[in-house]
Amino acid sequence: MIAPSEFARRRAELMRMAGEDAALVVAAAPQRMRNADAAWPYRQDSDFHYLTGFPEPDAVLALLPGRASGEAVLFCRERDAARERLEGARIGPENAATQFGVADAFPVEDIDDILPGMLEGRTRLYCHFGRENEFDAQLLRWMRRLRSSRGGGVVPREFVALGHLLHELRLYKSSAEIALMRRAAKIAADAQREALRAARPGAAEYEVEAALLHTMRAHGAVPSYPPTVAAGPNACVMHYTRNRGKLGRGDLLLIDAGAEVECYASDITRTWPVGGTFSREQRALYGVVADAQQAAIEEVRAGSPFTAAHDAATRMIAHGLCALKLLPGSARAALKSGDYKRFFPHKTGHWIGLDVHDVGDYRVDDEPRMLEPGMVVTVEPGIYIAPDDATVPPKWRGLGIRIEDDVAVGARGSEVLTAALPKAIEDVQALCSG
Ligand code: GLY
Ligand code: MN
Ligand code: MN
Repeated sequence: MIAPSEFARRRAELMRMAGEDAALVVAAAPQRMRNADAAWPYRQDSDFHYLTGFPEPDAVLALLPGRASGEAVLFCRERDAARERLEGARIGPENAATQFGVADAFPVEDIDDILPGMLEGRTRLYCHFGRENEFDAQLLRWMRRLRSSRGGGVVPREFVALGHLLHELRLYKSSAEIALMRRAAKIAADAQREALRAARPGAAEYEVEAALLHTMRAHGAVPSYPPTVAAGPNACVMHYTRNRGKLGRGDLLLIDAGAEVECYASDITRTWPVGGTFSREQRALYGVVADAQQAAIEEVRAGSPFTAAHDAATRMIAHGLCALKLLPGSARAALKSGDYKRFFPHKTGHWIGLDVHDVGDYRVDDEPRMLEPGMVVTVEPGIYIAPDDATVPPKWRGLGIRIEDDVAVGARGSEVLTAALPKAIEDVQALCSG
């Protein structure tokens, strides 16, 4: 759990970064409709959640550094008995201020009358533009109102993208955030173990998906993205989510499925042999990916550049592919020409946190960013040989393998948050035959 004091610290730090003459405005995610009257499951905007922990749509946070009567102001929906009978309980402005530790909370219906006055005297306004049409329109409305209703007061002249400051903060996870990510990782690991019970030859991919979802929901988590359950050549489609194929004995089964706990994500991939035994070719390729992943994980440590993991994985994969004669010539030549990308077309990892592909710059001053304690990355090399790849002998075609873990960088070494899910060849085979 993230304590109210931690949310308050985040707001204070953001205001310190923005400066006394600034204001910051962040909106909640809107409720999105699936069709007609049916809504998608609600997921709060990650930035809004990071600063408030407030779980409802139709809310706006204004941060006003130095405001005498309190710096954090929340606008939210009013209580409404009739709507609450339909849609469930609302927090309401009366409870929001005390429950969420903000100085003031007002009905969001009144925001056009209240907020513009609060922005007067501030020279810079930090917010997100171009994300939500409704928010952009609201922002312009507030500025028009401010200009027309006030005589000569200072109106914000500078609009600054909020992400530069806020996403820098989000990149460094606190121990409470890492604890939630550890839990999200454990649930996702348990989900794959449970899913293997359903992964028998002849089963449908969606039966395996159902077991994943069952475990996640049974622990109060939700998927952090639509799971990939890809049997046989489907594993060569990197973001496969159709999950309607059948598992054949001797197929590989690639499962990429993360869980989300209190908005914090995990992201794990394992590749399993359906029936319990890798074929000679599957085993050889799996060994290359496993070695590449291990080499990459060893590069995830404080003081190492973000790119080191990808460089290590790439070297191992190029060597492995050349040794297996899947690439002609030397590994050095394959690395130089980029030929290995035919089989390893993606990067080795990304930041992970509130978003699966989390925020934060990967380069600073045009140099790869150095890893620091609190950063969390995925390590996920893969090899995919398309089913119609005529450059390799048929026995290799249609194999897709990825192994993915989440690694938290610490001051005294890194922690593989997803280590509970086995990946060594013998363990993987044993789990699949069990
Ligand atoms: N599951 C999405 C990814 O691995 O990046
Ligand atoms: Mn990933
Ligand atoms: Mn993944």
